[in-house]
Amino acid sequence: MNIDFSNANVFVAGGTSGINLGIALAFAEAGANVGVMSRKQANIDTALTRLRACGRGWFAGYAADVRYPEQVEKALTDFARARGPITVLVSGAAGNFPALARDLSPNGFKTVVDIDLMGTFNVMNRAYPLLKKPGACLINISAPQACQAVAYQIHANAAKAGVDQVTRTLAKEWGSDGIRVNSITPGLIAGTEGVDRLLPKNGASEDSCADIARQVPLGRAGQIRDVANAALFLASDAGSYISGAVLPVDGAWGLTEIRLGPSS
Ligand code: COA
Repeated sequence: MNIDFSNANVFVAGGTSGINLGIALAFAEAGANVGVMSRKQANIDTALTRLRACGRGWFAGYAADVRYPEQVEKALTDFARARGPITVLVSGAAGNFPALARDLSPNGFKTVVDIDLMGTFNVMNRAYPLLKKPGACLINISAPQACQAVAYQIHANAAKAGVDQVTRTLAKEWGSDGIRVNSITPGLIAGTEGVDRLLPKNGASEDSCADIARQVPLGRAGQIRDVANAALFLASDAGSYISGAVLPVDGAWGLTEIRLGPSS
């Protein structure tokens, strides 16, 4: 598998922490120029330090909120002006918290839909004129909630199902431009904000991630690198005929009954 991304221009929306940062770092290690975008300048500064430590390419960070298309457009345009057309675009900015539908305010529902679904649309839509055609590879970060209606997750269930439909629609509409579009669905990934925010907090347990990991058919939680490897594969020549796919990287966790929220 060719994982040399020297001279590739990779932009990761949400790429300053967690899984998205792991993806950005993996592309940096593979030689790419990488732009990362998130809301908090402190996270951007930390991400840039890590990118420079592991890569030999050109790196830049952009402070922008995916909910605002004009901010997204400015970040993408500044990156493309500096480096040229975008070859790999990852859209992974997400917001989430556990809440029962009856307790969730309309604004709480809207906030997650705005970040996850509208944010994905904004990134894809604003990037289109700046993409390498043919050849760009777009990756949206989904979640098992896209397929499985998980309690305490009505907002994320709806938003991530929408994200996968955005993926499929763009794969159809932009395929003739030579653009590939796929979703990656991370499962239980150790050391992420999702684990901290969403796993049931069982008072008897010191480590709910380890508890839940026993329910994963492969018997363990995944690592951020597992997700990053899938992104490298999809963007590489080895993935050149894959488009419109939703790829779980979850040890088959999505095939089991997923329980999230305050208690198991
Ligand atoms: N339970 C129920 N409702 C909640 C909530 C919770 N834990 N957290 C936020 N909300 C509601 C708020 O009450 C508000 O609704 P209201 O105006 O009707 O009261 C609405 O959501 C927006 O909250 P706010 O804090 O103003 O939004 P924000 O834009 O500042 O933050 C979040 C967005 C809520 C998603 C915040 O958690 C965040 O910034 N997360 C980023 C990181 C993240 O979530 N990563 C997820 C990885 S899985």
